[in-house]
Amino acid sequence: MSEKKKVIVVAGTRPEVIKMSSVYMELKKSRTLEPIFLSTGQHREMLAQAFGAFDLKPDHDLELMQPGQDLTGLTARVLQAVGSYLEETRPDAVLVQGDTTSVLASAMAAFYQNIPVGHVEAGLRTYDMQSPWPEEMNRRLVSPLCRWHFLPTEVSKGNLLQEMIPEASCHVTGNTVIDSLLWMSHKVNAEENRTAAVAKRLKIPDPFRKNFLEQEDKRWILVTAHRRESHGGGFDDICRALRQLLEDHPGVGLLYPVHLNPAVRKPVMEQLGNHERIALVEPAGYEDFVWLMNRCYFALSDSGGVQEEAPSLGKPVLVMRETTERPEGVEAGTCELIGTDPERIRSAARVLLEDPCEYERRSQLKNPYGDGEAAKRIREILEKTL
Ligand code: UD1
Ligand code: UDP
Repeated sequence: MSEKKKVIVVAGTRPEVIKMSSVYMELKKSRTLEPIFLSTGQHREMLAQAFGAFDLKPDHDLELMQPGQDLTGLTARVLQAVGSYLEETRPDAVLVQGDTTSVLASAMAAFYQNIPVGHVEAGLRTYDMQSPWPEEMNRRLVSPLCRWHFLPTEVSKGNLLQEMIPEASCHVTGNTVIDSLLWMSHKVNAEENRTAAVAKRLKIPDPFRKNFLEQEDKRWILVTAHRRESHGGGFDDICRALRQLLEDHPGVGLLYPVHLNPAVRKPVMEQLGNHERIALVEPAGYEDFVWLMNRCYFALSDSGGVQEEAPSLGKPVLVMRETTERPEGVEAGTCELIGTDPERIRSAARVLLEDPCEYERRSQLKNPYGDGEAAKRIREILEKTL
């Protein structure tokens, strides 16, 4: 029997692990392909937590994270370390996912060695190089380096065709995040008494647990925010808006798992600490985060992944960004783009909190990002064409 072809599956940050785990698990089923999970270690604790949620571990970890890392140093370290690893292992293909520094530098390293690259979640664009920054650049530079573009929607395919990417290399598969979300929802639903366990794991303060998590009729909002283009003034605006929002709505709470980036933690802890209706907690494991998304009233977030996931769970998302490379959610009405201006955040939240008909309408829209079969399609395409 001929040997299986080696496919390196690269992940550097939390969302890459979440969205690549379903691809890795699917490739494991292949009779012709052998996946190898490579971690660049751009993230450390958050990466280990994401792997753990899927009961996975990287096959090899380059452990590249440095506290407070800058983009130039990180890019250089990933390029060098992934390059050396590929030279040693000589795989048949490399798969990257999304828009991080790990994605661009790993794709470049593979390209330099003439190893074909597949881009999972390809074709997302804002056409504004400053937003999201630097992710829009990463996405645009990765595309011409790739042999396969695995696209979440027809909109993303249209973007690549417009950039003269050959149509034969474009495959609309859906987004693998839906595969991962469905897998995780199944696991989460199987566990009983989750409220107490989640509260304990996330160290959610007792009053918040009793007043919000354990009261079915109490409403609370799930918050995440970490984007680089909001560091500094954008975060001050977000924090001010969140405090004012709670003053406007005395019965409402906020739960915010705070990203480990020090440029995020410092302003958030300083400005939102010590409020009895705000629970600031450590980053949640994916299984707990899925549970939180299921239980919240709606999400206020700048995360790419949350824009794709929450609508599957019937939760509207207010997107605290000026632009989005995910227009399908906005068009479908599940996501609303509101930026970081405090007045806009407050008024958009007010609509969801005070207009039950509008809330109901937005909770019932269909998710445009996939059907949970994206990873299987990616496996089949690779089996046929590699
Ligand atoms: C990165 C990605 C961003 C993605 C986000 C997902 C880039 C340029 N940015 O942003 O696109 O949306 O991940 O979360 O690729 N840290 C830890 N432990 C961790 C993770 C981070 O301590 O497990 C701290 C470190 O001090 C690190 C800093 O956060 O230096 C920044 O991490 P980095 O990956 O450079 O940027 P993110 O803001 O996480
Ligand atoms: N997520 C998580 N724990 C958290 C916050 C988010 O597991 O505390 C998940 C979320 O469900 C989504 C992904 O992490 O799948 C999003 O990651 P992040 O916001 O860090 O990055 P982005 O999607 O903006 O690139």
